[in-house]
Amino acid sequence: MTTSSQLVFDPYSEQFYADPHGIYRRLRAEAPVYHHEDLDFYALTRHEDVAAAYRDFRTFSSTAGLDLAMMKRGDPPPKTILYMDPPEHGRMRGLVTKAFTARAIAAQRETVTDLVQRCLAVVDPGRFDVVQEFAAIFPAEIIGALVGVPEDRRQQFREWVDEGFRYEPGQIEPSEMTLEVLLKIAAYCYELVRQRHAQPQDDMLSALIAAEMQRGDRETARLSDDEIVFFAMVLTGAGSETVTKLIANAVAAFAKHPDQWRKLLDDRSKVPAAVEEVMRYDSPVLYNIRKTVKEVTLHGVTIPAGKPVLLCGLSANRDPDAFTDPDTFDIERDHTEAPQLALGYGPHTCLGAALARMETAIALEHLLDFMPEFQVDWDNSERVNTPTVAGWLHLPVTVLR
Ligand code: HEM
Repeated sequence: MTTSSQLVFDPYSEQFYADPHGIYRRLRAEAPVYHHEDLDFYALTRHEDVAAAYRDFRTFSSTAGLDLAMMKRGDPPPKTILYMDPPEHGRMRGLVTKAFTARAIAAQRETVTDLVQRCLAVVDPGRFDVVQEFAAIFPAEIIGALVGVPEDRRQQFREWVDEGFRYEPGQIEPSEMTLEVLLKIAAYCYELVRQRHAQPQDDMLSALIAAEMQRGDRETARLSDDEIVFFAMVLTGAGSETVTKLIANAVAAFAKHPDQWRKLLDDRSKVPAAVEEVMRYDSPVLYNIRKTVKEVTLHGVTIPAGKPVLLCGLSANRDPDAFTDPDTFDIERDHTEAPQLALGYGPHTCLGAALARMETAIALEHLLDFMPEFQVDWDNSERVNTPTVAGWLHLPVTVLR
């Protein structure tokens, strides 16, 4: 099978950032194994294929990087869970899983609730930016506290990410600004690790310093400071940006579907299902990337070894073969039809899934009280993209009732 000449999927184009669902719809139908000849990557867009590839780490490896630019450069990525395959991956991940179990996260409920309430107490219902004044603030506090970032620096981390991770359409390589910001964050994390060596505290950085991990068949060894710093950077990055964007996507989806908001107002027990539906309908993660370890043939297309493959979870979540009426936003949908893939699948399934779900649910519960009726000022809304994650940077809202 060959791909249609008219069908061009440029994951860095303005068109894709503005409407990923449009191109994903065509790819699922016309080129389920898409090959971009110039950039030489492949893309899987059907639910069945994406889910299988997420699980098949022996064919689709995570060890080559986070985006195409990283893969093209070919430098080995830093040694951290994101870029490891089993069994090494499981050992590294095992060092922190205890902190992210549903039970451990449930213990954070009061803290999250308190932060959400404090954010809403100071916004102006006449007009506020649901991203900058709400959804961006509290996730950074929570993950910062878990990792061990001092209270007065947690928003600074977020601001660095905000200012440094903006990709213009067409931009593949990170900008000078992005690299500068990464250096600033790394330098600060090194300083924190140095402090924790001297004075351990009750936080994840100190736990990682104390942890030992099996390296070879038998030997165990401590993590290096580099490994701890990268771990901290992954956790603080992944633990705030995505939740912020998901909550804003939720507000945007409910603004366009007020009947669904009213259903939630009438029955708060539907909040957890609504969170799942927002994830399915409009996740901020556009795709995750893997590199083929060996040749693989799917739908008649052979992907050679050593090629980047985009696993388009956002597309999988709108696959009509997996979900009934996939383009309909329906908080009462039957979620047993298929697993939604917004949080990934397989060994790298989101480590912060329980936290992401809880934070989004608590945010929605409080927004229901705060803005039973609201409208979004779409003309003054603004989006922001990185190669793999997209969402709202500003979403001004007026509470009507
Ligand atoms: C709604 C919010 C979130 C979304 C949509 C999301 C999405 C994802 C996805 C798709 C992956 C899979 C990556 C891959 O397979 O390559 C992932 C992994 C990960 N997520 Fe999340 N995430 C969210 C929130 C969080 C939070 C709150 C944390 C806090 C710790 C977190 C930490 C991580 C980490 C550390 C990984 C890597 C896991 C591994 O490599 O084993 N995420 N996330």
